[in-house]
Parts: sequence; C-alpha cells; structure tokens
Amino acid sequence: MEEDLPRFAIDIPEETSAGSLAPAAFFADEVYKDYWLEIGFGTGEHLAAQAGLHPDIGILGCEPFINGVATLLTTMAKAQVENIRIWPDDARMLLDALESASLSKIFLLHPDPWPKKRHHKRRFIQTETLDAFARLLRKGGELRIATDDADLANWMLSKTWSHPCFDFQADCADDWRSRPGDWPETRYGQKQLAGQPVYFRFLRV
Ligand SMILES: C[S@@+](CC[C@H](N)C(=O)[O-])C[C@H]1O[C@@H](n2cnc3c(N)ncnc32)[C@H](O)[C@@H]1O
Repeated sequence: MEEDLPRFAIDIPEETSAGSLAPAAFFADEVYKDYWLEIGFGTGEHLAAQAGLHPDIGILGCEPFINGVATLLTTMAKAQVENIRIWPDDARMLLDALESASLSKIFLLHPDPWPKKRHHKRRFIQTETLDAFARLLRKGGELRIATDDADLANWMLSKTWSHPCFDFQADCADDWRSRPGDWPETRYGQKQLAGQPVYFRFLRV
C-alpha cells in the first residue's frame, strides 16, 4: 500500500479554495469522458467493478477506513484497473473542494445507519450534503443510494424526494426493490444485515 497509495491518492492542498478542483486534475495525462464519485466505498467492490466496466470514466472514491483503501488497492493491482483516484478521508472535504457540475454520477451505498435518534445528525444524507450533490452533479446526472436499513431508507428517500434538484426514478416498487444490472453489489449489500436492500436512483433536474 505504501507504494500504490501515493500514486492513486487525491491531494487537496491546504490553500485550495472551495469549488476549485476539477476531477480531471487528479488523473495526470489521462482524459476521461466523465467523472463519477463513490462515497464510503468500504472495501471497494462496487468501485473497482464500475471502473473495470467503464474504462472511459474516471472514478473518485472516498473512504477513511484505511484497511478498506488497502483492499481496494490490491483489487486494482490484480484487475489492472487504473481509472480510480482515492480520497482516504471524510468525503465532505472533497465535496467542498470539487468544481460545480464536474460529476455525472454519485454513489452512496449502504452508508452508516446511525440508528439512535440523537445520532441522526451524523447520517450522511442531510440537506447540506444534498445541496453539495446538487452543485456537483451535471443536469441529467444520477445519484444512487442503497441501504438495507428501513428507517434510514425512509430518511434518505424523504429528504432527497423533497429536495428541489432531485427527481426519483421509479414507476413501481420493483424499480427500487431490485438491483439494476449495471449496479454491482457491495460487501454490505451482500450481507443484508438489517433486511432487504433498496436501490434508489435520482436524476439531477
Ligand atoms: C456500512 S459501510 C458500507 C461500505 C460499502 N459502501 C459497502 O456497501 O460495503 C459505510 C462506510 O462509509 C464510510 N464512511 C463513513 N463516513 C464517511 C465519510 N464522512 N466520508 C467517507 N466515507 C465515510 C465508513 O468508513 C464505512 O466504510
């Protein structure tokens, strides 16, 4: 990991002003068609799978859990996938630093549920983070959210549904109960510790 992380890590210099970093700047000479972001990638199964399926996309991944970062780096080396850059820290720092309308997909898959009411303010989906997603996603861009926790599902759905910049993509329950074919499963999604997972898709309007 000592060798690989510096090569793939995102650097946010201290003097960086908010909203000033273009994702392309993290990829040296490589130019990608689009840039995606995964928040809290855990051990990186979904991130590595998406990067392998979409070699024309540059994908940014955030994960402060260093063992997860090490696992992703091992998977990337085995699969010879290089179109990923890693922010090994709190995703909110990267959200603040990135340029507006610089992403076309954001993934937030099985975020920590923080079940106690007094901890709900720690849940990742809040009006402020949705405002940041709305700023960063291009019009027509997609926000994907998954969880197997029913209370968190209600929380995330109601907050995102009522946000003026997001349009829920579902005509019937099967549209969010079943995982779409282009949505690789994550480790937590496989475990289904709390119950049946939901797979929400929203478009940036
Ligand atoms: C329940 S795990 C899910 C991991 C993975 N997405 C999956 O589905 O297997 C939640 C992950 O979010 C990460 N996380 C929590 N807060 C975060 C934050 N502010 N920024 C980035 N990642 C965060 C945690 O370290 C943890 O790995």
